[in-house]
Amino acid sequence: MQIFGVDIGGSGIKGAPVDLDKGDLARERHKVLTPHPATPDGVADGVRQVVDHFGWTGPVGVTFPGVVTDGAMIRTAANVDDSWIDTDARALLGERLGGLPVTVVNDADAAGVAEMHFGAGRDRRGTVILLTFGTGIGSAVFVDGVLVPNTELGHLELEGHDAEKRASSKAREDHDMTWEHWAAHRVRRYLAHVEMLFSPELFIIGGGVSRKSHKFLPYIEGIKAEIVPAQLQNNAGIVGAAMRAAGH
Ligand code: BGC
Repeated sequence: MQIFGVDIGGSGIKGAPVDLDKGDLARERHKVLTPHPATPDGVADGVRQVVDHFGWTGPVGVTFPGVVTDGAMIRTAANVDDSWIDTDARALLGERLGGLPVTVVNDADAAGVAEMHFGAGRDRRGTVILLTFGTGIGSAVFVDGVLVPNTELGHLELEGHDAEKRASSKAREDHDMTWEHWAAHRVRRYLAHVEMLFSPELFIIGGGVSRKSHKFLPYIEGIKAEIVPAQLQNNAGIVGAAMRAAGH
């Protein structure tokens, strides 16, 4: 079965039909740039362009980089325009897509659902935490394979700061940090803090950086949990969005 998945990110809006049996994209993904400011109207237009590119007419799952309740309501908007807060994104996007059924899910939760089913978290019991390092830090917490949604661990306080402002991939770029410095100091301290709170068996590192894990994983020392890169890499959000729309 195929369902369409869209991933709304800080820099791009990406999507493709997803083969839910294989957990992979059925066609090469299409990407448009995220508008700035990333308002509901501008982003909805981007989602429409991505879906229209494939002439898709079935159900659509969409990730959002903030807290999403009931598959629809946006509750926070750390890295997109504030006017998203309390928007019914399912209604907005459904209307913009000419009435297609839409399900909306937090981006990290979507990536986590895909990784637990098809990737690095397959068959893993106990507490597993996927963290995405990108514009912000997203989190998805699983206990025996069951998701605790909207955990928002990127906004833990770390040394007096919002953690994602210290340890996201954007923070590394903004402050010209080397991969080694970022990993050995910022990411290590962040993971140590999350580990103190949850004692997970496994950390899965997702987001754009998962493709470059050799550049930073060797420098993260002193964490008891196993640490592995996400296997679906940057497509995890698209695959997970489609899975949520299919009822996973
Ligand atoms: C948001 C999360 C999101 C993460 C990654 C954070 O700023 O609060 O909801 O999952 O960024 O996009």
